This record gives sequence, structure tokens and C-alpha cells, in this order.
Amino acid sequence: MANTQGTTGLLGWIDERFPLTKMMREHLTEYYAPKNFNFWYFFGSLALLVLVNQILTGIWLTMSYKPSAADAFASVEYIMRDVDWGWLIRYMHSTGASAFFIMVYLHMYRALIYGSYKKPRELIWIFGVLIFLCLMAEAFMGYLLPWGQMSYWGAQVIINLFSAIPGIGPDLSVWIRGDYVISDATLNRFFALHVIALPLVLLGLVVAHIMALHEVGSNNPDGVEIKKLKDEKGRPLDGIPFHPYYTVKDLVGVAVFLVFFAAVIFFMPEMGGYFLEHPNFDPADSLKTPPHIAPVWYFTPFYAMLRAVPSFAGTQVWGVLVMFAAIIVLFFLPWLDRSPVKSIRYRGLSFKLALVAFVVSFLILGYLGALPTTPARTSVAQICTILYFAFFAVLPILPAFEKTRPVPERVTEK
Ligand code: HEM
Repeated sequence: MANTQGTTGLLGWIDERFPLTKMMREHLTEYYAPKNFNFWYFFGSLALLVLVNQILTGIWLTMSYKPSAADAFASVEYIMRDVDWGWLIRYMHSTGASAFFIMVYLHMYRALIYGSYKKPRELIWIFGVLIFLCLMAEAFMGYLLPWGQMSYWGAQVIINLFSAIPGIGPDLSVWIRGDYVISDATLNRFFALHVIALPLVLLGLVVAHIMALHEVGSNNPDGVEIKKLKDEKGRPLDGIPFHPYYTVKDLVGVAVFLVFFAAVIFFMPEMGGYFLEHPNFDPADSLKTPPHIAPVWYFTPFYAMLRAVPSFAGTQVWGVLVMFAAIIVLFFLPWLDRSPVKSIRYRGLSFKLALVAFVVSFLILGYLGALPTTPARTSVAQICTILYFAFFAVLPILPAFEKTRPVPERVTEK
């Protein structure tokens, strides 16, 4: 006899004990997503794919990696040369780290252009910014593990920044390192945080992110709320079931992504020193500082902001504050942008110009952060830092003179 879900046999048996069919319906076959998703909507599912890749390859790396200052570097070399398929697993993980940030930056940019952070999606956005912070901590700690020159000195520079905080700073940086310099104790705790603590937090945040999304429903390139117009069965007129329509569409994105991902892994895993920095092929040496210390590309915009702020009275604390403020300000975006129009398609020229200035300044900062400083570069970085924050500062006043276009009732399809 069929149960409340109308299922019989093994599935029926499970459904009477666990909400399997109910969940599949709620989140896949009867979850209605707007029918006008475009290319920009690939990056959420691709970020999920990369997350799974990082967890699986991470588990296999951990089987042969040794988290001690004496053995770490050699154990990574052992993985690369002697472990069966070890080179592939390591390159999938190191390329995955950069791919993760590429997907997340594009995913965040999509939210910016379509106003996906606006009411009622503020919490999706806030969980997103928390994911971004967690991902940065995860990548930073993972980078220490191969115990190369850049692992060591990069961590040294970043952790030393905490000592700029007045009062508690010096003690705080010793507490983070567990020593007066980066050492075996630091490597051990970073390993623990990188392989278990932060991935757990990250997974929890991703679940919360998607639960919040499924509570309110997806935005779309027109910024039209599809739940406003429903048919007699209560289904949004402009919605289509996520499965099979978007599972199939997302598979196309997966296929294209895997072509690029494999090309990088097989033909340019170091990506000219951007994905794996050259000094990291030398083991960490506490007596030999590399001539130029730069973080991996995904941190360089924030690093450039840090260096752009001059030190006052011998302290870098203002630079540190500006760097953290650049991330913290993202939390306030849903309340800073007061325009009633969500999508860039119907927003005015002033918003478009502000967004272009913001994105270009961020890209220039990213470029500058990878280079050694010169007075001219510092001046450009200062202008770009001001432009970055100016975007958030002008958002609340934009609606006063922004000429928006009327938003249609229904989604548009080309
Ligand atoms: C591990 C990282 C992340 C994963 C796995 C993830 C996953 C997803 C998925 C699967 C969706 C629905 C599909 C889509 O709209 O593309 C989504 C939507 C969304 N995400 Fe993320 N996300 C991540 C990080 C972020 C970050 C860092 C932000 C922003 C700071 C963010 C903001 C949003 C927003 C605003 C939406 C709703 C978009 C809309 O409806 O237009 N996400 N996310």
C-alpha cells in the first residue's frame, strides 16, 4: 500500500522512516527556480563541485602528509613522486584552491550585478560573506602546510600584522603561532584547523546558505520576484522545477569547467607562479628571507590595500584595519544599497559607473599586490583603495539621482 508520499517498495519503506522523497520534492523536483537563469548562475553549483573536490583530495593528501616541521616538505615531495597518483591528487587540490576563489569571486560578482543581496536575500548574502571569510582562513592555513619558503614567510608576515594591534597585539600573535616565530607548533595547529575545524564550519555555512536560498527562492537576471505571480496550483508562473531543468543545465557548466580545470592540472599546475609560487619549491628556512614576499593571487587585492596605507608613528595598525574593513563592509551591502531596483538591467548609469570603478580598482589592486612596491605603485594602490570604499559610500545616496528603468512584471527571455 502506498504511503503519504505515494511511494511503495524499498523507497516506500524508507519514506515511512526518513523524509527522502519529501526532501527530493522540496529541494529538487518541486523547487521552482526562475526560468531565465543565465551563464552567471553556474558558479554556485561549480563552487559546490570544487568544495567536494577539495574535501576528497584533501582526505587523500592527509593519508601521506606529515604535519611536522621536520617532515612536512619531504612528505609533499614524496606524495608528488612516490605515491600512486599523488601528483594528480596534489595538483587537483592546489588548483582547486585557486578555482574555488575564481568561482566564488564570479559568484559574488553575479550577486552584485543582479542585486541578489537585497531583501529578502540578506541572510543568503551574509552567510556568503561568512563563507568567504572562512575560505580565506582555510586557504591561508593550507598554504603553510607544504612548509616551503613562501608558506613560512607568508605566514610570518600575515601573523606579524596582528602584533600591530595596540595593547594585546604582541601577545595575540604569539598565541596564534604558539611560539615566538612560525614553528612546528604553528604547523600542527594550522593542520588541525585546515583539515577538520574550518572544513566543518565551511560545510555548515554552505548548508545554511542553501537553506536560506530555498526559503526565499532564487533571484534572477531581471530581479523579478517570481513568487508574486502563481498559477492555480500555487506554482510560480515564471518558475521551472530545479530537477531536471537546472540539474541538466548545471551539468553543461560542469563539463566546461572540467575542461579548463583539467587543462590547468595537466599543462600548467603552477600557472606561472600564480597558483603555486616558485619560492615554495624550496624548503622553509627561518634564516633566509625571500627577496620578495607576496601572498597567492586571491589575497593580493587585500594585501595591496594593507601596503597602500602608510604606517603612522611606526605602526601598521591602520593598514591592518583598512584591510579587514574591506571585507567587513561587505556585510552591510544589503543596507547600503537603497535602490528599489535589483538588476543592473534596469539600473541607471550612475550605478553602472560606480560598479565598473569598483571592479576595475579591485582588479588593479590584485595586480599591484603581487608586485614589489614602488612609490608610483603605492600611489595607484591608494587611489584604488579609495575607489573600492567609495563604492560603498556612494551606494546610499545613488537613488537620489539614479535614473532607473521600469522593471517588468514577468521575467524576460531572449
Ligand atoms: C563555498 C562557497 C559557496 C557555495 C558552495 C555557494 C553555493 C550557492 C548556490 C548553489 C547557490 C544557488 C545557485 C546560484 O545562485 O548560483 C547560491 C546562491 C547565492 N550565493 Fe552562494 N555559494 C558560495 C559562496 C557565496 C559567497 C562568498 C557569496 C557572497 C558573499 C554568496 C552569495 C550568494 C547569493 C546572494 C546567492 C543568491 C543568488 C540569486 O538568487 O541570485 N555565495 N550559492
